[in-house]
Amino acid sequence: MIITKAEFIVSNSDVNKCPSERIPEYAFIGRSNVGKSSLINMLANNKNLAKTSGRPGKTQLINHFKINNNWFLVDLPGYGYARVSKTTKKTFQKFITQYFEKRQQLVCAFVLVDIRHEPQKIDLEFMQWLGENAIPFAIIFTKADKLKPNAIERNIENYKNLLLETWEKFPLYFVTSSENKTGKEELLQYIDSINKSLR
Ligand code: GTP
Ligand code: MG
Repeated sequence: MIITKAEFIVSNSDVNKCPSERIPEYAFIGRSNVGKSSLINMLANNKNLAKTSGRPGKTQLINHFKINNNWFLVDLPGYGYARVSKTTKKTFQKFITQYFEKRQQLVCAFVLVDIRHEPQKIDLEFMQWLGENAIPFAIIFTKADKLKPNAIERNIENYKNLLLETWEKFPLYFVTSSENKTGKEELLQYIDSINKSLR
């Protein structure tokens, strides 16, 4: 699939005000600075679509982008932003939780994790929560350009082993880099296959 049209629709902090159109939507979630907004831009071939920043905490709202006139990509704020208190850090921002609980159009959540890091508690807890709420998700490893292939393999293996201690199956995953467009085709193909299955 090729993205020929990507347009910003609306930003908001209330899931009830999100677009009412019944078209499939895919949300990007993960720690602040993991590369959610950059990945959306990479997929859409537009560096200025979603706002990115070297400093964590850039995306603050639920942002809907309409793709090829018939599905949505959703950019969300990151969790685990270091400048908030411990209690706030533990509780995911309420409107993000509500987005996942209430948004019926959501067909798949992509949980982004930085491929360079050891599995983080907050990511594992979030995946656990998605599982408990029966929200389908896939893992996207980001910033693959920062590691050599054998280190990528090793880190994924490590992630797998850890997750398999609590999960029966390792979720579907993608290895990506917004810098050099790694994983773009695979990700778009996956989304396309879901879109087609829903038609
Ligand atoms: P918040 O909106 O704050 O939650 O962050 P985010 O997850 O949207 O991250 P964003 O896309 O703003 O990127 C954060 C930083 O990581 C920026 O400096 C990006 O340039 C950088 N970055 C994102 N993706 C990649 C990547 O694939 N490779 C490299 N090398 N840097 C990346
Ligand atoms: Mg962002």
